[in-house]
Amino acid sequence: MNFRSDNETPVNETILRAIIDANHGFEESYGYDSYSNLFNKQCQNLFQCWVETLPLATGTAANSIAMALCCPPYGAIFCHESAHLNADECGAPEMFTGGAKLIPLPGQHGKIDVDILEKKLASSGRHGEHEVLSSVISLTQSTEAGTVYTLDELKTFKKLKEKYQVALHMDGARFANALVSLNCTAAEMTWQSGIDLLSFGATKNGAMMAESLLVFNPKYTTQILRHRKRSGHLISKMRYITSQLVAYLNDDLWIKLARHANEQAHYFATQVESQIELIHPVEANEVFCRLSTSKILSLKAQGYEFHVWPDSDDIIRLVFSHATERKDVNQLVKAIELLY
Ligand SMILES: Cc1ncc(COP(=O)(O)O)c(C=O)c1O
Repeated sequence: MNFRSDNETPVNETILRAIIDANHGFEESYGYDSYSNLFNKQCQNLFQCWVETLPLATGTAANSIAMALCCPPYGAIFCHESAHLNADECGAPEMFTGGAKLIPLPGQHGKIDVDILEKKLASSGRHGEHEVLSSVISLTQSTEAGTVYTLDELKTFKKLKEKYQVALHMDGARFANALVSLNCTAAEMTWQSGIDLLSFGATKNGAMMAESLLVFNPKYTTQILRHRKRSGHLISKMRYITSQLVAYLNDDLWIKLARHANEQAHYFATQVESQIELIHPVEANEVFCRLSTSKILSLKAQGYEFHVWPDSDDIIRLVFSHATERKDVNQLVKAIELLY
């Protein structure tokens, strides 16, 4: 029973059917297909604003191209130390920007500590051209700890962005889970909160391989198409990516899938919280909890699959997804009860 990652889930049937439906006749190549156009219109509607949409196949590409668009080679990118950008992209943001410097920051529950960030921003510039130029703040929503920045918290980052004249990026690999959690509009969680660029994920929430970079600030769109081409992400048969994105947004499918995932996580947490320690507040579709090594081994021996969190031997991450069934959650809850 798999609680390891939302990357290990099957593709949602509606999205799979959309790929098959797209598979007839000829369509223009290299992003000029009718689905790319439709996806852009859907996004303008959803976000209620002008937006440049750049369909891609991976989240790493979305994050890295975003950095290349808003950060010079001599720039600094502030992110949480656990951010995918910092911990899991093999230096791609640094490579795509031509050498920008990531500044990983601490903070509880996967969220950047605002006071530490402000201190860094305030003190930068003292060494003139000897130091990198503060250029971007990157937030992950929902975070790598399964928590969600509130709208008020996002407003604080917006103020910092305005005060220090930097760009604000959101890694939304799990954007849908965060949106469902906050129960706000996509506009409120992005450009109205100062977000200039959004890595908009779909793969974890039901797509096969479909991500996109959304840019709300035209200032950061210079040569965006060339950036995609140079990254190797200008897919010739783009319709097979964009038909997924169109189906994902149609009829609020993405919201329904994320709501289901979040509900399973919350249900699980409420069932076990009297028995096991939850490490972070459960606000989206991931639950982090502490279990002894022997209990972890026992669950694994029973066939439950999950990650033991790196650099710890007693913290596990359980991921609940669009494909998680309630009966499997109940079975896991029972198995945990029997450990005590
Ligand atoms: C927070 C976050 N950002 C971005 C990504 C994108 O990763 P990939 O390049 O594997 O699509 C992931 C995937 O695990 C993620 O968890």
